Amino acid sequence: MIYLDNAATTRPSPAAVAALTEAATDCFGNPSSLHQAGMAAHRLLRRAREQVAAALSTDPARITFTSGGTEASNLALQGLADRHKGRRIVTTDAEHPAVLRTLEAVAAAGDFELTLLSTRGGAPSAEEAARVIDKDTALVAMMLVNNETGAVFPVREVGALARAAGARFHVDAVQGFGKLPFSPEGLQCDTLAVSAHKVGGVKGAGALWTAAGVHLKPTLFGGGQEKGLRSGTEPMPAIAAFGAAAEDYRRRYSHGAMQALYDRLEGELTALGCVVHRPPVLCPVILSFSVPGMRAEPMLSLLSARGICVSAGSACAAGKKSDSHVLKAFGLPPELLKGTLRASFSPETTEEDILALVDGVRACMTELAR
Ligand SMILES: Cc1ncc(COP(=O)(O)O)c(C=O)c1O
Repeated sequence: MIYLDNAATTRPSPAAVAALTEAATDCFGNPSSLHQAGMAAHRLLRRAREQVAAALSTDPARITFTSGGTEASNLALQGLADRHKGRRIVTTDAEHPAVLRTLEAVAAAGDFELTLLSTRGGAPSAEEAARVIDKDTALVAMMLVNNETGAVFPVREVGALARAAGARFHVDAVQGFGKLPFSPEGLQCDTLAVSAHKVGGVKGAGALWTAAGVHLKPTLFGGGQEKGLRSGTEPMPAIAAFGAAAEDYRRRYSHGAMQALYDRLEGELTALGCVVHRPPVLCPVILSFSVPGMRAEPMLSLLSARGICVSAGSACAAGKKSDSHVLKAFGLPPELLKGTLRASFSPETTEEDILALVDGVRACMTELAR
């Protein structure tokens, strides 16, 4: 199998699987229990928190484990929106549904006005953000790296604007985590969401970083785990795997190697007549391209039959009939929108994988043209 759908999910790394196994066998206790088994599990919890914090260059006390990126953003956005701070919420038209749908619900419940910055051409402009974010803005939310195009959004600039306006700022760093060098403190945000299964962990764990002095309301009530912010017995196998994966991903990831793969794939696809949607500032692990005159679904099936796994837009959008909101916002014309595929890399991706995809696309073009 040639797996090029790492923005959807990654293969768990051997270190993550070893940590998961340890947490499910030798250290299976409940980390809240006050006996040996519980204390062993508690040590794993502490180690995982330190590992995730180290990968974010932050203090372990700032990390709350969640079930994934979706829950982390929900917790943050539902907790940060404060009508006393203003009536406007600002985000972009290319956010992940975990942020867009949550903000729509928060805006409707709290009578906020939701303003979407345009990402035409790939990313929002800091100038438009500066025009929109004002003293009446309660909350700003922006992703670090777009999950369909690999575009890097200007979160640093927007964080400074939000701070100057007295607004809260949330960053969805699910796709940027492990790939771009950043710390939440450096981005001047109040909260930041990451997810384990995008960096070689397993599904079922994520984390919310919260700035000192920011107090969120819990959305789950119960035993008071995670300092009362996220009740429920910690899913230790997934959390231990997350810690190991976060530590390991930093060692395995090479930006230069990813850039070389991106450039090679872009060159080969362009030579075939495909259109590559390269954003102005790029995290080179996600490459979006269209095959003019073709539809994505039959190409996906033909590629899959050759053992090649890519996606049409995001995994969340798969199976939905509507066009991708991200690619529409990017400004793709309808004939390209229908035929867009996404290849996404991990530290395991090789040049042979890229060349197999190119061969596969060439074969699809011949087959479907017939
Ligand atoms: C940018 C972005 N945000 C949030 C999420 C949701 O993360 P999770 O699958 O851990 O809930 C994803 C997953 O695809 C994503 O790509």
